[in-house]
Amino acid sequence: MAPILTVAVAGAAGSLGEALVKELLAANFSVTALVRPGSTSTLPPSVKAAKVDYDDVESLKIALQGHDALVSTLSTTAIEVQEKLIDAAIAAGIKRYIPSEFGCDLFNPKARVLPVYAQKVKVEEDVEKKTRGTQTTYTFVFNNAFLDWGLDHGFVMDLKAKKAEIYDGGNVTFTATPIPFVARGLVAVLQHLDETANREVRLHGAAVTQKQILDIAQRIGGKEGWQVTEARSEDLEKESYENLKKDPSNVYGWIIGMLKRAAFADGYGGDFSSNNDNEMLGLNEMTEREVEYVVHSRM
Ligand SMILES: NC(=O)c1ccc[n+]([C@@H]2O[C@H](COP(=O)([O-])OP(=O)(O)OC[C@H]3O[C@@H](n4cnc5c(N)ncnc54)[C@H](OP(=O)(O)O)[C@@H]3O)[C@@H](O)[C@H]2O)c1
Repeated sequence: MAPILTVAVAGAAGSLGEALVKELLAANFSVTALVRPGSTSTLPPSVKAAKVDYDDVESLKIALQGHDALVSTLSTTAIEVQEKLIDAAIAAGIKRYIPSEFGCDLFNPKARVLPVYAQKVKVEEDVEKKTRGTQTTYTFVFNNAFLDWGLDHGFVMDLKAKKAEIYDGGNVTFTATPIPFVARGLVAVLQHLDETANREVRLHGAAVTQKQILDIAQRIGGKEGWQVTEARSEDLEKESYENLKKDPSNVYGWIIGMLKRAAFADGYGGDFSSNNDNEMLGLNEMTEREVEYVVHSRM
């Protein structure tokens, strides 16, 4: 496959998008950001901005023309927006499409059926079906929990508030991958087109447990003031289903528990230690010191 030179990014100013754009520019790709008309997001000066209407395939196709790859880092709440993006990508002759995934292993059957992933699964199915027989190929990228984001947003635990809800005893190993690592992984996918065509790719930052992260945080900042509670991920999942049944529109009432179940619970495929693509992509698993550095930097 001819190398990728030009990359369009949807969601370029988001948490992952911003880091991705930085890595793409550092690797000398030419980058275009797809931008909604009302967006107030700022972009680096060397990034071209193409105004798009995500409801209009034609506007997306015009913006994508002349690009080799399209990476979507659209928000968790905007996954369905990608429906027309794939039609436009195929029509514009995009060679590699990477839809917005970047979470747990959706090829794990227990994770795949969780309602929180329904839209991402639909996107995968659409992409597989629609790209068949076209020049567009795809890669689905999984990284389990974002380590840095998960510490900033209280998903893994809340370092700033010194609050940790420990699931299933806290000794279950899971993959935690910082956003810049994911961004480097995405660049590596675009540099390994044949190896990554039409398949899923697992990026493995580090194998950690919640207890290990809590230990690191308490070693650095002391044990005082911490509020540590225990919970069962099975109960989180049950409660999430109950909340979904009661009020689907109260999204935060049910998505978080399901996301945590998939990321942290045993049997949901969240540990990529022996099942990842780091080596093929030239990425090194993080050292303990690097994990400590990330934890320290979020305190
Ligand atoms: N594994 C994990 O722990 C983890 C954690 C968080 C996220 N994720 C995943 O990573 C991916 C990226 O998430 P993120 O947190 O980086 O995204 P984000 O920062 O929340 O948002 C990314 C961009 O999405 C665009 N956007 C938002 N709503 C939109 C809409 N209705 N229509 C069109 N564009 C819209 C915005 O672009 P504008 O600049 O145009 O406003 C925004 O900059 C998602 O798939 C998410 O599920 C994984």
